Amino acid sequence: MGYYVDEHVKNTERVFPGQGRYGKKRYDMNENPEGLPKEFVDGVLKEITPEFLSIYPEPDRFLRKYAEFLGCGVKFENLVATNGSDMSIRYVLETFGEEGKGVVTVSPSFEMYWVNCSILGLKHVPVTYEDDMTISIDKILGAIDEDTRIVVLLNPNNPIGNVYTDDDVEKVIAKAKEVGAIVVIDEAYHYFCEKTFLPYAMSEDNVIVLRTFSKLMSIAACRLGIAIGHPQLIHYIKNSKLTFDANSIALLFAERLIERPDIVEDLIKIEKEGKAHILKRLDEEGYEARGGQGNFIFVKPKKNAKELAKELEEKYDVLVHAYGNPLLKDFIRVTTGSKESMDVFLEAFFKADTL
Ligand SMILES: Cc1ncc(COP(=O)(O)O)c(C=O)c1O
Repeated sequence: MGYYVDEHVKNTERVFPGQGRYGKKRYDMNENPEGLPKEFVDGVLKEITPEFLSIYPEPDRFLRKYAEFLGCGVKFENLVATNGSDMSIRYVLETFGEEGKGVVTVSPSFEMYWVNCSILGLKHVPVTYEDDMTISIDKILGAIDEDTRIVVLLNPNNPIGNVYTDDDVEKVIAKAKEVGAIVVIDEAYHYFCEKTFLPYAMSEDNVIVLRTFSKLMSIAACRLGIAIGHPQLIHYIKNSKLTFDANSIALLFAERLIERPDIVEDLIKIEKEGKAHILKRLDEEGYEARGGQGNFIFVKPKKNAKELAKELEEKYDVLVHAYGNPLLKDFIRVTTGSKESMDVFLEAFFKADTL
């Protein structure tokens, strides 16, 4: 015991995602199962020269273009680019959280919220789902008090794809303001769900919207997230961030992508068709399936969900997500993608899920 370890870090128990996923059929982590068009990727790769790789990242040119791409009056000074939205979450919790004080999130939710609370010594205040998998906004409001520093809403939520209304969000922002808290609206699954709360990040001084390039934009490997908010909030996040955070390859891919609205529209259309297709096929076969607003659905298999997920992986190289959480233990979560990729999943699923 000859060295000091931060107590919060020491006491945090992490479970990292499994590896060896290349070449498998991936419906477990809400990535695009197929990725971007190959000719687009090849074109961008041609721009990666020895000179390009030798230079430290310069995010500003991309951010200026991205501000225009977002619309809603977003300007360069409303944006900061980070190493995945994972890193935005860390910076926001580090910057606006206070040791021992509350971070309100629904539960279950994206795990990096509680993980960062644990690492940073913030008090995670989980608001549980109702038994019918809806979220009570009154419960969220009830959890916000003088000790709250941050309230997190995921829209749509992960793992359950619920969405909020303007009225819900306005109530949360108002309550957070009363107690001096920041509201984070994580829009990782935007584009699968058209509704955005970005206008609130522009009009309010305590709202931060998070976006990622890992989901619809299909470059999870590159790691690019964006925090969007009032210039003063962005200034504080920039104070806390690493000098070089989002890398040049991510920034280049993202810049070329937003220059191609045709590709972005295609990605949206392909996923929509695929989701409608899988829901229809599951319904035809008598399955209970819940299609939320993200690029994922929940299916209740005939078999035990965990055992089925194991069998799908071992026998068919198909990866899906199964949960220990009591609310979700009877379901598998399946990432949605093109019609073709949904057929690949369905073929294995129908074979495996027989009693
Ligand atoms: C709600 C939510 N936020 C943030 C993230 C992190 O995304 P990334 O770090 O890849 O940008 C995820 C990833 O699954 C997510 O589901």
